Amino acid sequence: MRERFRVVGGARLVGEVPVVGAKNSALKLMAVALLARGRTTLTNMPAIVDVRIMAELLRRLGVIVDYDPEAGLVAIDVPETIGHRADYELVRALRASISVLGPLVARTGHADVAVPGGDAIGSRGLDLHASGLEALGAHVHVAHGYLVATAPRGLRGAEIRLDFPSVGATENILMAAVLARGRTVIENVAREPEIMDIAAMLESMGARIDGAGTGRIVVDGVDELRPTEHRVVPDRIAAGTWAFAAATTCGDIEVVGGVAEHLGVPLRALADSGCHVEATPRGFRVAVPSGVDRPAAFDVATLPYPGFPTDLQPFALTYNAVARGSAMVTENLFEARFRTVQELARLGADMQVDGHHVMTHGVRALSGAPVESSDIRSGAALVIAGLVADGYTLVSGVHHIDRGYPRFEVALRSLGADITREPDEDWYE
Ligand code: EPU
Repeated sequence: MRERFRVVGGARLVGEVPVVGAKNSALKLMAVALLARGRTTLTNMPAIVDVRIMAELLRRLGVIVDYDPEAGLVAIDVPETIGHRADYELVRALRASISVLGPLVARTGHADVAVPGGDAIGSRGLDLHASGLEALGAHVHVAHGYLVATAPRGLRGAEIRLDFPSVGATENILMAAVLARGRTVIENVAREPEIMDIAAMLESMGARIDGAGTGRIVVDGVDELRPTEHRVVPDRIAAGTWAFAAATTCGDIEVVGGVAEHLGVPLRALADSGCHVEATPRGFRVAVPSGVDRPAAFDVATLPYPGFPTDLQPFALTYNAVARGSAMVTENLFEARFRTVQELARLGADMQVDGHHVMTHGVRALSGAPVESSDIRSGAALVIAGLVADGYTLVSGVHHIDRGYPRFEVALRSLGADITREPDEDWYE
């Protein structure tokens, strides 16, 4: 059944909110587990549907997976022999399933992974994944909608330079290189905390990796890895979402479990525009001081980590929609990630899109209306917009939001928001 959120405007969010493990790390760590025979345990796992989809994908490879969402626990039992196919049915539901490509080809010498279709935030190619694995000695081609990678005699170390620091390509190449013969040097890699998390887990399994978190990773291949227990890194995008929720609603939120250092650029921008930002023993806190009527709008240009994250760009748009003054938001990573703008315009935001820039002119208040989420982040950003809109806002496409934010409305209610989940049927249904 489709659902929507009914959000009543006028809330100032105050209180504390927990952040658990990062979706974009958790899913990849499940793929990492494939690299070792035996039982690997992941803790601090988020309670989201994507983990269930990834668990099903692993089960179809012959792996036993126990997922306890309440406890944030996933146990993965990998047998000696595993399958090598990730079906379209699952890949289309979860683009991150592409991260089994590297582990499967490294472990079994063969991977058949359905090519994910385009999605709502741009074309998102796989050329860097494919050329990286080819450099490691795999043969890669597309047949009948599947990316097929084979390396019957195993992988061998290589020197690889990525044209762009793609998160997904860095991960796939890294996960394959750990079992390749000899040394692999990967240049111009992604430096996200999630990459460091994967590297840390791989090292605890016996992999030899140097430089994760910098632009150059060196891997010395080993013959075999052993299972491990690993705690997922906190979700910096969820933490950043709460930071923007506090700033946009002129509230005061402590993000428990949030890591301020993983949000250097966005938190500095919020501090520079009049918000109070401080580290706390349990995480960090973002508050709009009582003397500040509206914090100032600020310019944003998304960049690979440690730059401003593209996943927080929709929240910057919502913030600027009601902040004081004008600003420019530039999207450098994904070509079609401005769908939030059209929906914010329905709420009365004053913004103009010009190519990959959006000029924003803050207004005092938005005005509630029905809007549609197009992806996880735009959906959550529209909910926050609803909190600063007169009257009520209906946000459709709640299934998108559920993919990234475990029980979003429950967390919002605990901070004082008036939000309910309800059925969403069109009049002709
Ligand atoms: N790209 C290529 N060729 C490739 C790989 C990437 O052209 O072989 C391009 C893409 O088309 C895109 C850009 O490079 O324009 C960035 O892609 P990247 O590979 O860095 O991103 P991703 O691995 O597909 C992850 C997150 C995204 C997040 C981006 C950027 C996961 C599951 N997804 O995607 O998160 O926006 O990194 O930080 O880890 C989300 O959580 O809402 C989300 C979309």
